[in-house]
Amino acid sequence: MSNCKIIINILCLIFIAKASSDEGYRGSNNFDVLIFTQRWPQTVCYTWKASSPSHTCSLPKEHDEWTIHGIWPSQYHKVGPQFCNKSMPFKPDALKSLKGELQEKWIDVEYGRTSYSLWEHEWKKHGTCAVVLKQLNSEVKYFAEGLNLLAKYDMKNVLAKVNIVPGQKYGTNAILNAIRKVLGKRGVVICRKNKNTGESYILEIRICFNKMLQLMDCDGISEYPTNCDASELVTYPSIVPRYNVVQV
Ligand SMILES: *[C@@H]1O[C@H](CO)[C@@H](O)[C@H](O)[C@H]1NC(C)=O
Repeated sequence: MSNCKIIINILCLIFIAKASSDEGYRGSNNFDVLIFTQRWPQTVCYTWKASSPSHTCSLPKEHDEWTIHGIWPSQYHKVGPQFCNKSMPFKPDALKSLKGELQEKWIDVEYGRTSYSLWEHEWKKHGTCAVVLKQLNSEVKYFAEGLNLLAKYDMKNVLAKVNIVPGQKYGTNAILNAIRKVLGKRGVVICRKNKNTGESYILEIRICFNKMLQLMDCDGISEYPTNCDASELVTYPSIVPRYNVVQV
């Protein structure tokens, strides 16, 4: 075989591989569950600041509020699908009517630079996959549904019902049980560990919905039921934990 033919064959294989990897995503209804993720801004900020001395955070004006991370279509035991349609760019103008509320409740804690970066990221990575559902089939619907879910399932209220409040430490099981007891479904708790002190902080809580946006158990999703260290207490910090910038 001539070099030229070999190159053509290789290009052809690359093309086939690319086409089939896109295939799984195109107009993909290929997910089992919608994961609604709320994040605890104090821990997000801790992580961000610990990664570089130049980093600053935007925190909610109201103290002690959970903020939205995103609505993530997901398959069981997998991450994704993601980035489903490159022809659906993020359009800031589509969110004009929601902007004030999004700036309060879907906060770009880690950046504090460009006002759209978290929203743009969530839209491209997850929103473009969620559009196969009628309730989420546009940018404005995707973000409005996030606000709606936070209003309904705000973890501050859920946890407060069983006296889990910021400024204290709890066992991971106590937090998981609280979600199950108050909402009647099993969720996921995600922790961030302080590498210097070994202390764990609550970072995220994930709850799950079916394609009709009805609450369901999160059994079977990635990281279910937790990534926290079960033998240790988890801090629910009321202020941004002290951090040491990791020296490189
Ligand atoms: C991707 O988005 C574009 C623009 O909205 C749309 O015309 C197209 O049908 C979408 N592709 C799929 C496969 O859903």
